[in-house]
Amino acid sequence: MNSSNHSALPGSAAPSSAIALYARTTDGFQARLARSRAVLAEAFEAHGKNLLQSSSLGAEDMVITALIAELGLPVTVATLDTGRLNPETLALLAQIEARFGVKVEVFKPVEEQVVRFVRERGENAMYESLALRKECCAIRKLEPLSRMLAGRSAWITGLRREQSANRADVPFSEPDGQGRTKINPLAEWSWGDVWHFIDTQQVPYNALHDQFMPSIGCAPCTRAIAVGEDFRAGRWWWEGENAKECGLHQAKSNEELKKSGVQA
Ligand code: ADX
Ligand code: SF4
Repeated sequence: MNSSNHSALPGSAAPSSAIALYARTTDGFQARLARSRAVLAEAFEAHGKNLLQSSSLGAEDMVITALIAELGLPVTVATLDTGRLNPETLALLAQIEARFGVKVEVFKPVEEQVVRFVRERGENAMYESLALRKECCAIRKLEPLSRMLAGRSAWITGLRREQSANRADVPFSEPDGQGRTKINPLAEWSWGDVWHFIDTQQVPYNALHDQFMPSIGCAPCTRAIAVGEDFRAGRWWWEGENAKECGLHQAKSNEELKKSGVQA
């Protein structure tokens, strides 16, 4: 086990171990693990150095980085640092380097765009309207994403079918709508599988997962969930179910980004 405190409940002062809360050993795990390894190996065979792992530094992405390291694949691991991430999230960058010898490439938004947006709309514009929230995501995530993926033919994500109704049909491999292939090696994993792997392989993970944050994004747009709440209930919690995507997985072309006011 990575942590010793397994007893705290939501609302209590002490954090609780995500491993104790979520790890489950279920039938078929070894087969799912074998398929994920095969998906990664095949993706590297098909795309070589043009393949990249897009990591949010969340639990699924840590599992994938561990698998890439275990398979010895020289795949670039990259993250989008929006400027609004929690320190616990950023702490993973050093831990990944120490554990796997992998230096994560960090892509940040264009400073002038952020400064202008914050000056005109304020630090917390995301709470004011869906349009402003999407504008913030476009500046802080989508524009850096387009630079991160430039010259790549495929990217690996941690999407899983179980994460939300929108993701119920996520395949292992799919066109991303922009001429690239999106590889989702954990598509069929359960949340219990993710934590079983983290536990047994001693994978470093975001300390916020121990504070009832299963799905972690930017600090202002992520909160802890209560018992019984949905996996993604803590993401953009003030918005309706259908709005809860930042656009990374409905990625727009540079043309569309320009039309919406973001210079790609
Ligand atoms: S989001 O669209 O709602 O933000 P989510 O947090 O579920 O997505 O993450 C799904 C996948 O998107 C991650 O497994 C990862 O591949 C990618 N992703 C999300 N956020 C980032 C980020 N900040 N940097 C790089 N990749 C990310
Ligand atoms: Fe901005 Fe929130 Fe989107 Fe992060 S998730 S880019 S803070 S609106």
